[in-house]
Amino acid sequence: MAKRNIVKLGDDVLKKVCRTQLTFDEKLHQIFDDMAETMYEAEGVGLAAPQVGILRRFCIIDVGDGIIELVNPVIISKEGTQTGDEGCLSIPNRYESVTRPMSVVVRAQDRNGNNITVSGEGLKARALCHEIDHLDGILFIDRKDK
Ligand code: NI
Repeated sequence: MAKRNIVKLGDDVLKKVCRTQLTFDEKLHQIFDDMAETMYEAEGVGLAAPQVGILRRFCIIDVGDGIIELVNPVIISKEGTQTGDEGCLSIPNRYESVTRPMSVVVRAQDRNGNNITVSGEGLKARALCHEIDHLDGILFIDRKDK
């Protein structure tokens, strides 16, 4: 595994809409392994492909109950709301209040292309929404409460 550089605010790559990931090969597995190492070293709870300069639709989260790898994730349902401070490894030392769904259900693929469904509440729902937003070029500062 190798740690990758995290793209920071101001880089256009963070504002782009990512393309569908179509291959589930060793190259993707290597990137996932690198992203995990990068996220844990930075003490984050999520990391999306564009944050390591890759404009493809995949991301990882770990809110303390193990890593979840998501390829081509789509939020298929959401319920309730929660308001709380949020940050991002691409925007160091900045935290803003963001309102998110209290719970979400996400459909995605795993690193081998198998279909998976992931449900999350609270912080997990927040992390899922935050990372999936990255795949559409949306940052938490674009969603901060007024
Ligand atoms: Ni982020």
